[in-house]
Amino acid sequence: MTVGTPIERIWPAPVTGALTDPQLTALYGRADRPHLRVNFVASADGAVTLDGYSAGLSGEPDKRVFGLLRMLCDGLVVAAGTLRHEGYRAVRLSPERRAWRREQGLAEYPTLVVVSGSLDLDPAQAAFADAPVRPVVLTHADAVPPPGLTDVADVVRCGTDRVDLAAGLAELRRRGLDQLLCEGGPHLFGALTAADLVDELCLTVAPLLAGAGPGRITAGDAGVPRHLPLRHVLVAADGVLMLRYARDPAETPPAGAAPAA
Ligand SMILES: NC(=O)c1ccc[n+]([C@@H]2O[C@H](COP(=O)([O-])OP(=O)(O)OC[C@H]3O[C@@H](n4cnc5c(N)ncnc54)[C@H](OP(=O)(O)O)[C@@H]3O)[C@@H](O)[C@H]2O)c1
Repeated sequence: MTVGTPIERIWPAPVTGALTDPQLTALYGRADRPHLRVNFVASADGAVTLDGYSAGLSGEPDKRVFGLLRMLCDGLVVAAGTLRHEGYRAVRLSPERRAWRREQGLAEYPTLVVVSGSLDLDPAQAAFADAPVRPVVLTHADAVPPPGLTDVADVVRCGTDRVDLAAGLAELRRRGLDQLLCEGGPHLFGALTAADLVDELCLTVAPLLAGAGPGRITAGDAGVPRHLPLRHVLVAADGVLMLRYARDPAETPPAGAAPAA
């Protein structure tokens, strides 16, 4: 496949020359157990948005890895806030990436999973209306869906008055969605971190200072710091860093386990 800006691995062992898509696919890979990967892009000074959106932080190398990570997952998890704000469209993959998934015995497309407490969702949004696979909405027992939402998505209730994320992830895994990719946003990432459900963080660092104002990649209530070992450092020729942090598989709690204290 033709690639644009070259991406090289500089750590742990430098790999000379531009990485191909199959090499990048192998570097990120799929875990051999249920796994939650989170993917964000930030500026060098830690901003999660530029002019209110992530697009200004993301260039061609980030988009390339972003697409590969979508190719690798069973379920694509996104918070309702980001779905609404970024105007999520239906998940699409190139014919090559769909062929790769078929070769691996995977469904042709990942399933979109939206996390919402309010169910303030528009069934006409393309993410639902044009979805190639019926999306799942994780919510709680008290939430009332808007007209039409259950026509275009499975509404799954986990928790009575708030979304129980551990139970939600266990339900996704019961449906065969073992490899989950979360694309944010910050409040969902903060809640997943607080519940100790994050196995991996893929972080693209754009070489720019956004200045004061924008938030971080995480938001919400303060939690317990958790060590997350660095696994690789990639650098694109335009100075963009791509960092992959993941915990040791032995530290991964069993799916559906109660969050660590
Ligand atoms: N740089 C990046 O990589 C990146 C990635 C993603 C997003 N962003 C940016 O982040 C901003 C959006 O952030 P945000 O603060 O709105 O956060 P968010 O986490 O995207 O959305 C918050 C909303 O999602 C739902 N939600 C999140 N966590 C939940 C939980 N634990 N339980 C139940 N519902 C939950 C709720 O929706 P309801 O209101 O429906 O209950 C909540 O109001 C946007 O500016 C977006 O561009 C940047």
